[in-house]
Amino acid sequence: MAKTLDADEILIQAAPLQHQQVHEIQPFGHLIKMPIALSESVCNESVTNLNQLLADTMTLRDLYKKHHWQVAGPTFHQLHLLFDKHYGEQNELVDAIAERIQSLGGVSLAMAPDIAEATLIPRPPKGREAVPVQISRLLHAHEIVLKEARTMAGQAQKRGDDGTNDLIVSDVIRTNEFQVWFVGQHAVNAPLVGGKGM
Ligand SMILES: [Fe+2]
Repeated sequence: MAKTLDADEILIQAAPLQHQQVHEIQPFGHLIKMPIALSESVCNESVTNLNQLLADTMTLRDLYKKHHWQVAGPTFHQLHLLFDKHYGEQNELVDAIAERIQSLGGVSLAMAPDIAEATLIPRPPKGREAVPVQISRLLHAHEIVLKEARTMAGQAQKRGDDGTNDLIVSDVIRTNEFQVWFVGQHAVNAPLVGGKGM
């Protein structure tokens, strides 16, 4: 016959369990086999590439938020809004890349120290920078992402990993190219008034 629990024992069972230390269910760098008709080596190569792309996309995303907060000068309002819009779009890419990694049976990077260790984008100073420096920093970061994304898209296509290729081409490359256009136009020396014959 089942033992009847007294009130104290019932309350202990209902309390949330804290500070649990158990082993990881899947260590980083190890793949689980998913029934998606792709070989383990194909998934492994895609996961490695996507984790690099993820680290750089998270860094670029956070660079946009830093600049959103710290921007100064006559273009404050438009850049404050633009930087936050791009932050949001990069954040969607981060989620899509990380979830692609999990779909392939991998483990996505997630936490700031691991991202800092992996990213190829140079670390900015903690302090505020002038708009031209913010913009050239963003354009450089975009170019790092675009360069690796094109290489990775080509590699995924050769491996037959169409899903990864599509994500990188349709989402990562197109979004980054579009954002470069918008940000880059702020670095063109086009005066509002003046010029010859005016
Ligand atoms: Fe904000």
